[in-house]
Parts: sequence; C-alpha cells; structure tokens
Amino acid sequence: MDGNGRWAKKRLLPRFAGHQQGMESVRKVVKKCIEDGVEVLTLFAFSSENWKRPAEEVGLLMKLFVGALDREVRKLHKNGVSLRIVGDITAFPDELQQRIVAAEKMTADNRRLYLNIAANYGGRWDIVEATKKLAYRVKHGSLGVEEITSELLAQELVMADLPEPDLFIRTGGEERISNFLLWQLAYCELYFTQQLWPEFDESSLQQAIDSFGSRQRRFGMTGEQVEDSAS
Ligand code: FPP
Repeated sequence: MDGNGRWAKKRLLPRFAGHQQGMESVRKVVKKCIEDGVEVLTLFAFSSENWKRPAEEVGLLMKLFVGALDREVRKLHKNGVSLRIVGDITAFPDELQQRIVAAEKMTADNRRLYLNIAANYGGRWDIVEATKKLAYRVKHGSLGVEEITSELLAQELVMADLPEPDLFIRTGGEERISNFLLWQLAYCELYFTQQLWPEFDESSLQQAIDSFGSRQRRFGMTGEQVEDSAS
C-alpha cells in the first residue's frame, strides 16, 4: 500500500493525512474482495523497516491501527471476515497488542474472507523464524537434516495454512518487493501501478484482477503443456 505520503504531499497535507485516506482504500478493497469471493487478502501495513520513519509518523500510525481495530472489527466479524495480524507484534504498544489478540479471537472461526494485515512483518524474518523452528527440531533429534524440504519449511511460515498468493499488487510506482512475502511470491503474478494507494479503489482492483486473468501461469511448464492440461 505505497504512496500515502506522496498523495498527502501533493495536496500540501501532512503525511499522516495520506495514511488516513489510505484507510478508505483499505475499506473499499476489503468490501470488494468480500463481494467478489476473494478468499485471502494480505495487506502490507507496516514493514519491519518502517520503524526507521520519524517517531511522530510511527506513533500516529500506531494510533491509526488502534482506531481502525476499534472501529472496524465488529463490522468485519459480521461480514464473515477472519482477521489475522502477521508479523512480530511483540514490538507494538500494549494497547495495540491487546486489541490484536481480541480481534483475532473474535473472528477466528469466520471463513468468508481471510484478511491478513502484515505489520512489523518482513519476508526474511518469516523465513528465519521458520528456519529456527526446523533447527530446534533437528537439535532435539525429531528431524534429520536430510529430511528438510521446501514443503517442510513452508509449513512453518506464518500463513502456512493459507494458499500461496496468486496476485501481488504494489501501488505508488515502485517496482520492487521490499521484503514482503518473499517465499510465498515464488510463482505469484506481480502487478505494479503508478496509482498512489489513497487513489486505489474498486475499479483499480478490478483492473489488476483483469490483468491477472489475461496471463498464462506456466509454473515451469511450456505454454502447450498448460493448454493441454486445461482442455
Ligand atoms: C506506505 O506509504 C504506507 C504505509 C507505511 C502505511 C500503510 C497504512 C495504511 C494504508 C493504513 C491502513 C491500516 C490498516 C489497519 C490496514 P508511504 O508512506 O511509504 O508513501 P510514500 O512512498 O508516498 O511516502
């Protein structure tokens, strides 16, 4: 969800106004995903590198997250959304951690849309944590080094129970992954748009989905093989 700061700057507003407006885009996108039957949506709200931002911006973002949880969780629950915060939440203020735990508990049994908010998340962190879990098992003798496979490692990642993403969308014109779901993006379709996140709406999402729909996913096979297996 990139481009909030630039959106605000263009309007001579403080950066935080861009994050507030970005929240409106979050609402629109979540609503459309529910209506269109998208099964999993993962939003990158705060990376492990975002702590480097000015303290004031970080503090305001934390307040925005607390406010968003207070306002939106009941609505999400009513709409069958299962909310999960993925990332190391132990670094967040207590009031935020408490709300996260409560929100996850309330919505845990919902199945209409899995909404993951990546917060204090980094793709490398995810892989390192998964590796540590396997290393402990090796250390305690329940796993042999030769038994380690990519499937086994994938089972230890934070969203192991959910399918890998099909479509990655980055707004704001930058064409990079910036330590998002590094492992899970291996076969994902990447979509970059110049649009700034606060401008991203239902029709922007539809455009991204249409672009996805026009691509042939080969997973290492030839185009002919894919066509044959589809017929
Ligand atoms: C990146 O834009 C955006 C962020 C670091 C914050 C994203 C947060 C929201 C959109 C609020 C949504 C919250 C929830 C709970 C889902 P940037 O500040 O890097 O923009 P710039 O590149 O234009 O400076």
